[in-house]
Amino acid sequence: MFLTKEIEKRRTFGIISHPDAGKTTLTEKLLLFGGAIQVAGAVKSNKIKRHATSDFMEIERQRGISVATSVMAFDYCGKRINILDTPGHQDFAEDTYRTLTAVDSAIVVIDVAKGVEPQTEKLVNVCKDRNTPMIVFINKLDREGLDGFELLDEIEEKLDMKVCPLSWPVGMGQRLKGVYNIFERKLNLFRPHGKQEDEDTIVISDLNSDELEHHLGEKEADELRSELEIIETVYPTLDIEKYRAGKLNPVFFGSAINNFGVKELLDCFISIAPGPLARQTDSRTVEPTEKNFSGFVFKIHANMDPRHRDRIAFLRICSGKFERNVNYQHVRLGRQMRFSNPTAFMAEKKSIVDEAFPGDIIGLYDSGNFKIGDTLTEGESIKFVGIPNFSPEQFRYVVNKDPMKTKQLDKGLDQLMDEGVAQLFTKLDNNRKIIGTVGALQFEVIQYRLEHEYGAKCDYEPVSIYKACWINSKDKEKLREFELRRKNNLAYDKKGQLVFLAESQWALQRVQEAHPEIEFLFKSEI
Ligand code: G4P
Repeated sequence: MFLTKEIEKRRTFGIISHPDAGKTTLTEKLLLFGGAIQVAGAVKSNKIKRHATSDFMEIERQRGISVATSVMAFDYCGKRINILDTPGHQDFAEDTYRTLTAVDSAIVVIDVAKGVEPQTEKLVNVCKDRNTPMIVFINKLDREGLDGFELLDEIEEKLDMKVCPLSWPVGMGQRLKGVYNIFERKLNLFRPHGKQEDEDTIVISDLNSDELEHHLGEKEADELRSELEIIETVYPTLDIEKYRAGKLNPVFFGSAINNFGVKELLDCFISIAPGPLARQTDSRTVEPTEKNFSGFVFKIHANMDPRHRDRIAFLRICSGKFERNVNYQHVRLGRQMRFSNPTAFMAEKKSIVDEAFPGDIIGLYDSGNFKIGDTLTEGESIKFVGIPNFSPEQFRYVVNKDPMKTKQLDKGLDQLMDEGVAQLFTKLDNNRKIIGTVGALQFEVIQYRLEHEYGAKCDYEPVSIYKACWINSKDKEKLREFELRRKNNLAYDKKGQLVFLAESQWALQRVQEAHPEIEFLFKSEI
């Protein structure tokens, strides 16, 4: 009973956006509502500043700060809300993809002037793969941007979403008068800089009343009425079940920096967003309400500071109750482990927790026992599935610069890959090792860490690869034949799965056409 109550309280979600759309600002405003922070600006340190992108040590320093804000928990209206931070920096996109496996829903922030941007598309697709429910927040209404209907069209087209507007802007930029909250039938009048007072929110139960004219002016009131009429005819009304199944996406408009439209978003979120969901393992579905504890590691953060070489493994609790100093089964290693200082994250503060519940994220100090995807249970041998490995976008040969340190290099590479820093492929024809990453920065990080943590030195050589595709076929004979014929382009990943290294999009297309019986996949399971 107690467990069910705790589970029902939890809402665990991530905010996703293209960099600069306003994710950090929105996060901060949500935390202010929850009373988790007192002043604006507290979350800013979490953001990797654009000017620092060429200096990876500076980025790592900032990432160090961001450990504290990796998960931000706060209480609001009787709910415990866990916001999982998703790095906006393109080079850490893999971190973001994996973090999205630990959420139950997401909020997508879109810049009203820029519309749907490339990173938005990528992240939304990752959520769609898992049918994650998403609410869209169109931000920066205080600036001139695209027309509301144009934006909805773009979202439907580019993100393949079925949208359902729950609020609608009256004007935009300099002419922004307010937002009509369709969900609650209220008109919110806009005042810049977050000085939203109660009297700025007016209940409009009858859209035909001249109260609209009184607050907005004749032209705007008329426009709003006719736009709402279009919305009513064109777009579906809110169906919570469809939203929760990932088949309908509510849309809100606002301006995060002005704290405008944010409360409406939060209030709707807590009333419709799903609580902790059941999760799939290799043998069965685990329900959050099960008595026995289970959870999985979705992120590992290594400290680059040489004085504190510890790592933190982030664990999502999936079922039961986690308790401090109790023995749990590390399924992959087949042994018991207990944790004396599991950490919870409350906005800026980290604290040791005695217990945690489904939906919660805790940090476990680790000296190298964990890798991404590891499962902890009370004894059952299960593994949570669905944590993706995507095809990297940049590839380089690794060259051992100090043959006396081969063992150290191998060990270092092995552990860094387990942390999810990059992916390692071993060529079939010559056993050479290739590192694949999402961003160029990771190559420097690996080089630096190999030297400082493992005493090994490496260099890189260019290799012309466009994509790595995991291959498979129902016809094992054909697969064998393919393996023999294409040996020069094949490699094993860390799990020993066959990967085709395509030199160009054109080359990939040709090989696909020549071998229709072979499946080429851009993603695999960790
Ligand atoms: P991100 O985490 O998605 O990358 O974006 P972030 O919140 O940092 O916002 C990016 C920029 O957009 C910031 O300005 C921020 O102040 C601004 N911004 C966020 N919400 C709104 C809004 O509703 N209206 C307007 N006009 N601007 C908004 P910056 O100048 O890049 O950074 P800063 O100097 O303000 O920190």
